[in-house]
Order: sequence, then C-alpha cells, then structure tokens
Amino acid sequence: MKTKITELFGIEHPIIQGGMHHVGFAELAAAVSNAGGLGTITGLTQGTPEKLANEIARCKEMTDKPFAVNLTFLPSLTPPDYPGLIKEIIDAGVPVVETAGRNPAEYLPALKEAGIKVIHKCTSVRHSIKAQSIGCDAVSVDGFECGGHPGEDDIPNFILLPRAAEELEIPFVASGGMADGRSLVAAMALGAEGMNMGTRFIATQDAPVHQNVKEAIVNATELDTRLIMRSLTNTERVLNNEAVERLMEKEKRLGDDLKFEDILDEVAGVYPKIMHEGTMEAGAWSCGMVAGLVNDIPTVQDLINNIMSQADEIIKTRLQNF
Ligand SMILES: Cc1cc2nc3c(=O)[nH]c(=O)nc-3n(C[C@H](O)[C@H](O)[C@H](O)COP(=O)(O)O)c2cc1C
Repeated sequence: MKTKITELFGIEHPIIQGGMHHVGFAELAAAVSNAGGLGTITGLTQGTPEKLANEIARCKEMTDKPFAVNLTFLPSLTPPDYPGLIKEIIDAGVPVVETAGRNPAEYLPALKEAGIKVIHKCTSVRHSIKAQSIGCDAVSVDGFECGGHPGEDDIPNFILLPRAAEELEIPFVASGGMADGRSLVAAMALGAEGMNMGTRFIATQDAPVHQNVKEAIVNATELDTRLIMRSLTNTERVLNNEAVERLMEKEKRLGDDLKFEDILDEVAGVYPKIMHEGTMEAGAWSCGMVAGLVNDIPTVQDLINNIMSQADEIIKTRLQNF
C-alpha cells in the first residue's frame, strides 16, 4: 500500500510502532521494520547518549530497513541530555525521529539540517498545526483512546482525525485504538495516511517484555483502563491493577492538593519491574483501550501481514459491495 507516509519514510506498509518506555528496544523496532513498518527505539529508556548509540547499533545489526528513535520531551528538574542523544541519532544516520511531549522546536533545526524526517505525536488539532508550522514532516494524531498520555482535551479519534484532516497539509497517521486492518481502513477513511500502534505491538512474540505483560493485555477488555494524574495535568491511560486502585484512592482523598510525591510509590521507577520482571502489581503502566481488541500474541511479521490482508479484503470486498 502506497501512501504519503510510506513514501515519506521509505517503508512498505503505513504502520508505525510508537515509542514505548521499556518496550521499544532494538528487538521490537527491528521486527517492525523488517515486517515493512517503521519500528521505533525509545530514546529515554536508554538514558545516556552512549547507551542510545549502542541500541541503535544493535538495531542496525538486526535490520537494514529504516527505523526511528522516539524522543519524549518531559518536564523534568534534571532533564536528559537531549543534545547528546540527538548527536548520536544524527551520527548513526537514523532517518526518522518521533518526537512527543513538549513542542520540539528547540531541537528541530539540528534534526532537519541532518536530513532527518520528524513525526511529532500530539493529542490535539492545535498542537498538530503548531507542529506543521515549525517544520515537522508529519504528525501522529493521538486520540483519547490511546495508551499513555492522551492530553487533557478528551477528543476521540472519530472526531480528532477528520478535524486534523480539515486543518493539516502535512500527512498524519492515526494513533490510539488502532489494532488491525479495520483500524487502518477506518483511519484512512477519516483522512490519515497510516496508523501508529503502541499497545497492540506489546502483545507480540517479538516485544522484549515479560510474558505476564502480554497476557495482561490479552486478558484485558476495553473496560479495564483508567485515567490517572488528571489533577496534575499529566493524564495517563493505564491498565487497572492494585497499584492503580491505590493511586486513585489517593487522588480521591487529596483532590486538587495531590502532589506528584504522593504517588511516587505507584509511578516512579516501576517500568523495569513490570516490563522485565513481570511484577504486574508493581505500579501503573500505560495501556490503551484497544486491549479489548487484542486476543492473541502473534509475531510482528504475522500481525502486520494480517493487518494488510484484512485491510485489502475490506477495501476490495466489503466496501466495494455496498
Ligand atoms: C507501555 C507504553 C509506554 C509508552 N511510552 C511512551 C513513551 O515513552 N513516549 C511516547 O512518546 N509514547 C509512549 N507511549 C505511547 C505510544 O507510543 C502510542 O502513542 C500509544 O500507545 C498509541 O495508543 P495505543 O496504545 O492505543 O496503540 C507508550 C505507550 C505504552 C502502551
């Protein structure tokens, strides 16, 4: 399938794996890229420029296809060495960067000068327009359904995507709630040029995370995610568990007085315990409502093949017959 996104990134299928903390390692990025999509290494999980350089080198050993690095810009008292991370991305010749979080304007000139394509992930039409105006090549439009940080506007993709299509000139992909060929065709009907997936890619054989995480997604329904940290204007969609219930109890009790320090036990440093050790009650971890559509743990290659053949079947048979 040829779209503006496959052309822009030099990939076969318009399917992107979004950056995911402690999930987006070289193994997953390479598997997605080898299957014809665009895989993504999560920059901040590596932490230092040296470790990121090493991870990029590992990924290059596993694939000769294009892949991306995600740079998430978070408010932080001790910010990561973003210039150092960017230098390694440029030196290694990584062709695509997925930015997320804050406006990436500060770092865009260096990336663009190096010929890197930048896709900015954001959760509103106004942020998408901003991304276009500062020179991003594409946008990943992340609807309210998404796993991770859906922003504070709560606009689901059935509204957000056509609104983005009305306003944007640069191509965009649909992100949040995407799982299969139905998602892809629907997203394209609403104006997107492809789709970005997070949660669906975790439940694959290639995702380098504990089996318990994959099974938790398969066992979850669309009713099992919760929104946390709204009062901190840092809303996150997570899979419900004991730690999340505890956190929500604190939110209820403290209301607007809640501070980040009050929930450190439930959110700080919990990803390695969950993703690598499989201790599922260790804390809150991002997961999308799309878990309700995930019922298997295929290889990435089979997942992408199935998505593309289902999309083809829908376009050529179901839609043609109306
Ligand atoms: C476990 C997990 C961790 C994530 N970590 C990040 C991250 O570090 N940076 C980022 O930009 N997005 C992150 N995301 C968001 C994904 O890249 C993607 O935008 C989102 O999962 C799309 O929604 P979906 O889960 O419904 O597919 C994360 C998502 C999940 C599920």
